[in-house]
Amino acid sequence: MKKLALLLCLVASPALADFAPPITDPLTKAACGECHMAFQPAFLPARSWDKMMANLADHFGDNATLAPDKAAHIRKVLAESAADGPQGGRMGHKILSRLRADETPLRITETAAFLRKHRLPESEWKRPDVVTKSNCVACHKTAEKGIYEDD
Ligand code: HEC
Ligand code: HEC
Repeated sequence: MKKLALLLCLVASPALADFAPPITDPLTKAACGECHMAFQPAFLPARSWDKMMANLADHFGDNATLAPDKAAHIRKVLAESAADGPQGGRMGHKILSRLRADETPLRITETAAFLRKHRLPESEWKRPDVVTKSNCVACHKTAEKGIYEDD
């Protein structure tokens, strides 16, 4: 019941546009939440996730290789909630609206939609608790839940 109430709250909230559905699939959550937050798939289109999943051996300088069957499963989960996937929602729509059709970004932090919302002074990025732009949780306390209100 509690879960349902929370869900209704979210649906009714005007901040729905700042919500990206978090990953619920246990395998994906574990595998892609090991080194950093399990980023919400709605921040990138399916073609980006596909490209990333096709080269996990060189994942931003790390080796994130998975068994082929696991990788195939995760790829499907990511595509489902990708910006252009059936569960991409309004966040996905926002990302897509600023993405060129010939663009396949691998970084959320390099998408036009992200850059537009993050014109922050250099001193903000240099905060010792931030370290990297992809450290969403440093500035968005509820990032793991997919809630990105201005805070
Ligand atoms: C072995 C550690 C490791 C694992 C496992 C891992 N990643 Fe990463 N990931 C990294 C590192 C390191 C970066 C670069 C972080 C940075 O530069 O801020 C990164 C960056 C990313 C970014 C780009 C963030 C940005 O800058 O916008 C995405 C998206 C991403 N990972 C998705 C995934 C997905 C999906 C999985 C699961 C298949 C995964 N990662 C598993 C280490 C890992
Ligand atoms: C250095 C702090 C910082 C980091 C790190 C950061 N953000 Fe933000 N983010 C902000 C601020 C400040 C705003 C509000 C900007 C505005 O409303 O103009 C914002 C706005 C947003 C918004 C828009 C919310 C709205 O109300 O429209 C989204 C979505 C978002 N961030 C996602 C992310 C994601 C995803 C990451 C990690 C990949 C991230 N942010 C990393 C500071 C940060």
